[in-house]
Amino acid sequence: MANISKDKIDQVNQAADIVDVISEYVSLQPSGKSMKGLCPFHSEKTPSFHVSKEKQIFNCFGCHKGGNAITFIQEYKHLDFVEAVRFLADKYNVDLEEDQNEVQKYNYNKLYEVNKLAKNFFNLHLLNLDSGKQALDYLEDRHLTKHVLNEYNIGYAPARNNLLMKNLLENFQEFELVEAGLVNRNDSGNYYDVFRDRVMFPIHNEQGKVIGFSGRTLTNDKNTPKYVNTQATKIFNKGEVLYNLDKALPFVNQKKRVVLMEGFFDVIQASIAGIEESVCTMGTELTTEQARKIKKYTDNVVICYDGDDAGKQATYRALKILENAHLNVQIALMPEGLDPDEYIKKYSQAKFRNQLNQQLIDKFDFVYEMIINKGLKTSTEIETAKNSLFKFLVQTASKTITMIYLQKFAEKIGLSTDVIQQDYQRYLLNQRKYQQIEQTKQKMPVPKTSKARITAEQKLINYYLHSDEYREIIEEDFNNFKFLKGFRFEILITMREIFLSNREVALYNLKTDLSEESFETLTKLLLKENYNYSESELKELIDTLIYESLLVEINAIRDEIMKLGKFNQMDEFPKYKTLLDEKRKSCEIIRRRRNDKKTNI
Ligand code: UTP
Ligand code: MN
Repeated sequence: MANISKDKIDQVNQAADIVDVISEYVSLQPSGKSMKGLCPFHSEKTPSFHVSKEKQIFNCFGCHKGGNAITFIQEYKHLDFVEAVRFLADKYNVDLEEDQNEVQKYNYNKLYEVNKLAKNFFNLHLLNLDSGKQALDYLEDRHLTKHVLNEYNIGYAPARNNLLMKNLLENFQEFELVEAGLVNRNDSGNYYDVFRDRVMFPIHNEQGKVIGFSGRTLTNDKNTPKYVNTQATKIFNKGEVLYNLDKALPFVNQKKRVVLMEGFFDVIQASIAGIEESVCTMGTELTTEQARKIKKYTDNVVICYDGDDAGKQATYRALKILENAHLNVQIALMPEGLDPDEYIKKYSQAKFRNQLNQQLIDKFDFVYEMIINKGLKTSTEIETAKNSLFKFLVQTASKTITMIYLQKFAEKIGLSTDVIQQDYQRYLLNQRKYQQIEQTKQKMPVPKTSKARITAEQKLINYYLHSDEYREIIEEDFNNFKFLKGFRFEILITMREIFLSNREVALYNLKTDLSEESFETLTKLLLKENYNYSESELKELIDTLIYESLLVEINAIRDEIMKLGKFNQMDEFPKYKTLLDEKRKSCEIIRRRRNDKKTNI
């Protein structure tokens, strides 16, 4: 690959945003329309090194060096042109291999172009034409001035059927409009505009290009979806986008954090109030891709979701995803169930700024409150809360923090800290034991697992996913059996966590809560849609699992008894013997029950 084609160089320039590239080497601060910092090419005390995101160039007024992202890397790393292109291509995942088949090459620029013209069209209708009058009134009612509407490129999609399409057909073909997600084709083969009579929010990528839209209805009609988003296209995927990230970036660099919200109005009002480092997802749960994207720019995130119950649950889930991406998380909690937009309207911009700067809650307090707010009345509730707390502390807290929260919890339920600490020590011990067993297991040849058990585990997962009725049945016996450690185990306990926290046990929730591998396992073991579920089969499955778990336990007790002899601790023997006899008896009961069933058939 001696020559790199112009097309490939364009692709590299598209992918490697100059602010992103240079930020890695120079600390940049916003300054008017561009960013500035201390020039890396000559020594200076006051910044004269300017980077323009808009024009994708840099320029130093001191030493007069300047150019684009590739030139910067050439100069900074002392590389020749081809080397610099390769360096950036590698970093921004551009494949420099020329496509074999020229015909297959896709013209992404067309898609960006379509979106840009659509944005202008919507803009014109909102700000300059009569058709947008009602939408303009609505937005002004929501405290958005013309200046702000312009800045965020907000528009209005007129109600008449094909106005956008007719307009864009001057420059594009129908299929291109369909590929951009702006036009659809109905059953009778006619094309129509996807967005009609809606306030339009253009969605920009990090380079500031429009890649899709979200349209808000003006009606309060419950049957009309509040927001309609561009479907997935070659350049747009809801689960990867963070709205406003392009505008927020300079402020993210400056304030060293991202503030994560739920809605467009929240982000815009927050930015006007001075929290310009705000971004939001688009009605979907935060994804790992989005967390990774944030991590590229900063290590710190403040979650500022809606203050209602759903918002708090979503905060908890986002927190986990951000933690997994190694981000530091704090929470800004909006009172009275308000969302940021409503909070600013009801209180003030100053109060909001104060919430975001002075009133942040750390993740431990937030999770602790979540856990105890699920209720501490019955002993089951207390046990559940205690175990969730232990699990959370083990994963994330230092010894000091752990002590603080054990103390808090003890006081809350009116017990001495000692008791809770003892429980916690036992929990740790069990965990350690468990890890040791796991390690020994790994060293040992893998024991044969019965086919019956694997099938039973797979089917039980399907039953758990199926309905509340089956979940209740499984819950009754939940403590009497164990899944073998592994993906199926992770799936089961995750479904259960979802169930116990009153969320819907459904695939979309599992997709966010499970690791990728486990989710893939889950999709592979799903039963056919018309599978004949029955309570009697479920009960047999549970029996099989109890039986198999008992066998494992019996083996473990036998091993322990063997060890007693070795370490001369035979006084412990009676205890184990009683346990062994109990387990054997339970085994026998199940064996008989299963035999009875068989003979009855
Ligand atoms: P919310 O329902 O919290 O709306 O949805 P909001 O942001 O407060 O909107 P306003 O203030 O009533 O206008 C939060 C986000 O979820 C997405 C949108 O991105 C919205 O900003 N959403 C919501 C959808 O994608 N579809 C919907 O039907 C609703
Ligand atoms: Mn709102």
